[in-house]
Amino acid sequence: CWRIIITAVIAYLLGSVNTAVIVTKIVTGGKKDIREMGSGNAGFTNVLRSVGKVPAIFTIVCDALKCVVAVIIGWLIFSTIPADSQILSNEFGNCGKYIAGIFAILGHSYPVYFHFKGGKGVVTAAALIASEDWRVFIAVIAAFLIVFACTKIISLSSITAAVLYGPFTFLATFLFDYPNGYSLGYVILSTVAALIIGIFVIVKHKDNIKRLMRGEEKKITAKKKTNA
Ligand code: G3P
Repeated sequence: CWRIIITAVIAYLLGSVNTAVIVTKIVTGGKKDIREMGSGNAGFTNVLRSVGKVPAIFTIVCDALKCVVAVIIGWLIFSTIPADSQILSNEFGNCGKYIAGIFAILGHSYPVYFHFKGGKGVVTAAALIASEDWRVFIAVIAAFLIVFACTKIISLSSITAAVLYGPFTFLATFLFDYPNGYSLGYVILSTVAALIIGIFVIVKHKDNIKRLMRGEEKKITAKKKTNA
């Protein structure tokens, strides 16, 4: 129980370091708040749209890194649980990763340092998926990129990836981990964790979904250079 609490608190505090808010304040000399610009979201897409490419890259890297650090801490804390086998130890470690990832996403979306108004957790969730299972990460990123290539709409790509995250996790753990000795309980826990994260990300996109249905969601397009 103490492991869950310590992991959750550390991950939440790390996740609360919302890079979009910080980088926008730095770039604008403290004059602007990303949450009052563009879509109002404190995340990578809105920084790209409203502040610039370099701050957006900085946002994606730092938001991913804070989640990776949280996940490593969660894994380290849970790996110390005494286990009879290496597989059981891996299961504990992976549960620690999910707990850390979920609380890092919560911190990112409801940051304690920024009046609990943050982002939608897409980059943070992607970092958790990459740290948890590279097979699921590749499948989810492929889905994201296919939708983005077809539509140029990041929110729709994020929603698609979020919808597929739970099913992909079930397929990966059931088809590859379960036959290799992992328990059915682990398959179910992983799937439930992925479904919770996927649903959370979809719910955070409710305004985007309304804009998509009205055909008003903004696309990401390369700005054409104009000759003065
Ligand atoms: O990064 C979140 C993305 O899926 C949507 O962001 O700014 O278009 O609401 P935004």
